[in-house]
Amino acid sequence: MGLSSMERPYVGVRRELASRVLRVLKELGLLDRSCRPIRKEGLVLFPLVREPHEDELEVLEEKLGRVEVGTADFRPREKPRRLLDVLSGSLPGELMDLVPRSFDVVGDVAIIELPEPLWPYRSLVGSAIMAVHKKVRLVLAKGGPVSGEFRLRELVPIAGSGPTETVHREHGCIFRLDVAKVYFSPRLSFEHARVASQVRKGEVILDMFAGVGPFSILAAKRAGVVLAYAVDVNPWAFHYLAQNVVLNKVRGYVVPVLSDASEAVRSGLKGLANRVIMNLPEKAHEFLDVACEALRPEGGMIHFYTFAGAPEPEQEALRVLEEGVGRAGRSVRQILAVRRVRAIGPFRWQVVVDAEVA
Ligand SMILES: C[S@@+](CC[C@H](N)C(=O)[O-])C[C@H]1O[C@@H](n2cnc3c(N)ncnc32)[C@H](O)[C@@H]1O
Repeated sequence: MGLSSMERPYVGVRRELASRVLRVLKELGLLDRSCRPIRKEGLVLFPLVREPHEDELEVLEEKLGRVEVGTADFRPREKPRRLLDVLSGSLPGELMDLVPRSFDVVGDVAIIELPEPLWPYRSLVGSAIMAVHKKVRLVLAKGGPVSGEFRLRELVPIAGSGPTETVHREHGCIFRLDVAKVYFSPRLSFEHARVASQVRKGEVILDMFAGVGPFSILAAKRAGVVLAYAVDVNPWAFHYLAQNVVLNKVRGYVVPVLSDASEAVRSGLKGLANRVIMNLPEKAHEFLDVACEALRPEGGMIHFYTFAGAPEPEQEALRVLEEGVGRAGRSVRQILAVRRVRAIGPFRWQVVVDAEVA
């Protein structure tokens, strides 16, 4: 967009002092954030909202030595464009309210849930997403709910091109994955970090429904020496998990296992784990006996994900967990956290319980 330049007073310093002067200008409330600094001949010129007063110049020179002042033409920063702004004028006005306010971006692939009346305009919406998010290469629309053992959904290309395989970055980790072949949700990013931050050096972890590895790999990167068995029954999840272990340099700390979680535990992972992660909310309750078998005899932590409804989803999740643990012949020693992870429908939530099991 051709934005014309604007004359502004400036403070100029040598490049190596740029971050310090920026701090001082912010403290003084002098920095004009609407314009881009200018870099020339080893100097950085910072645009100001007004000419600095005498005492402000003294503060700057006291903290930074000699500074250069003057006026120059600065280029305004482009305001980030919003999806609705891009669509207004091309989408019928009565449909504007239906345009989703948010969508998922996994690597360079965007995934959007389109309400029925917007389907005839899907390529318009897809192109608008690409205009707003320059890094998005392909836009897919959700074609149905997540279903089946592998927790996948139909995805329909609506704009852009290229494969559904992408590389996603989360908390400093790299995840290669195919959004059409494996489950991955950037909406779980906080959960991945929350659980990983509890893991301590030396722990043995069982990630029962590991997908492409976001819990185990982050835990191993953060805690260092751990042994995380990352199990998934989907061969594609295993395929990418194995690659991600190498990409994130956690070989030997995260062990990918292609198996049903019950079979994996019963054929060799009994009584080993300090911590079990159960991120399969629609079915995790069916695996509580297996999770208890995987825990060490002295006990350990279970991160239990489930779906629960109003009026008290947290209480419902706690009850399901306590009953399952009880049936397995163990008991809940302490509940360390219960939280709603996200809404999944009217009056229904994904809930997580962190429980210490004896
Ligand atoms: C909701 S996804 C979670 C993936 C991952 N934990 C994450 O946060 O992205 C659940 C995963 O469990 C796997 N799964 C389903 N049933 C399983 C089973 N019986 N044993 C092992 N994995 C299973 C699916 O293939 C899917 O990758």
